[in-house]
Amino acid sequence: MKTQKIIANSIVNWYRKNARDLPWRHIRDPYTIWISEIILQQTSVAQGTSYFLRFMEAFPDVQSLAEAPEDDVLKLWQGLGYYSRARNLHFTAQLIMSNYGGQFPNTYKDILSLKGIGPYTAAAVGSFAFDLNHVVVDGNVLRFMSRLLGIQKAIDTTETKKLITVQAQALLDHAKPAEFNQAIMEMGALVCTSKKPNCDSCPVATHCIAKKKNIVPVIPFKEKKIKKRHRYFHFYFVIDSIGNTLLTKRTKKDIWQGLYQFPMQELTSFDEEASISDFLGLDTYGISGVYSSDIMRQTLTHQRIHAKFHKIELQGKIKAKDYDDYILIPVDNMNKYPLPKIMDLYFNDLSITLF
Ligand code: ADE
Repeated sequence: MKTQKIIANSIVNWYRKNARDLPWRHIRDPYTIWISEIILQQTSVAQGTSYFLRFMEAFPDVQSLAEAPEDDVLKLWQGLGYYSRARNLHFTAQLIMSNYGGQFPNTYKDILSLKGIGPYTAAAVGSFAFDLNHVVVDGNVLRFMSRLLGIQKAIDTTETKKLITVQAQALLDHAKPAEFNQAIMEMGALVCTSKKPNCDSCPVATHCIAKKKNIVPVIPFKEKKIKKRHRYFHFYFVIDSIGNTLLTKRTKKDIWQGLYQFPMQELTSFDEEASISDFLGLDTYGISGVYSSDIMRQTLTHQRIHAKFHKIELQGKIKAKDYDDYILIPVDNMNKYPLPKIMDLYFNDLSITLF
């Protein structure tokens, strides 16, 4: 038997004995698989499972997702980050309704043409739902393959990814692409892990070039180091005399697009003076108290967010007409809106003690 066939058989046999029983496995419905894969690109299996179950309960099929208000979709995504992924899910569900009569497309080319679906997701949905012979190449597979082949080149280059895709595609078992694809990812997730790989229980250790050369811990590596942009936000949690607050929707092409936030001023650092009265003109309502939080921080893939929250109590009642770009809502309704995680953390921690 060819070595490639032996390797493919070994990982599928290993998978049959060791696979985790996860709620999106044994499912052939392309919609369900699509949702699970987009969520899992975003987070770990442990955290992703509860998001997946909640999402499927709210939107069990393409039609229910297509017909949902965007705010509801984003609310269910709250905390996962990369909100464009949720907006793309929504957009694509609507497109499947209008262009494909509600039926998920079943060719690789059509699946790949959908907004928010790249080669990985197209291969996952295509193979799991329709037995299409396309190998999945995610971070787990890149790590597993680069060690198996002993590739000592940065994996975050198009060239290395292409090389690995060609090699992984050659391994793919055409009789069972769905099971093979689950198996190769599961190998990366459970055995060929980034830290402390379990080479002792690896079914293909004898074929592993990195192991032979004793270089497993240094493979894979990346070339580019992401330089993070630091951003400084002052958020104003305004509460008027009848318990209303102001929110605004982030509509610009930026982080958190589509989510709601308190009025916010972005400055170049916290050394710069923030001016609440100039910014919102709250003086006219009479400010009875200002309570500022410590700096809260959140690390995103390309940015580090530094945030200060200022709770501002007013003596008067805010007039909605003074604030065109904002919505005026009862504070009690805040949690109905999709919020950036840092807002949610501030607001919901605070609410335990203040409301
Ligand atoms: N990560 C991405 N897709 C996955 C899947 N289908 N099962 C487990 N982990 C995954």
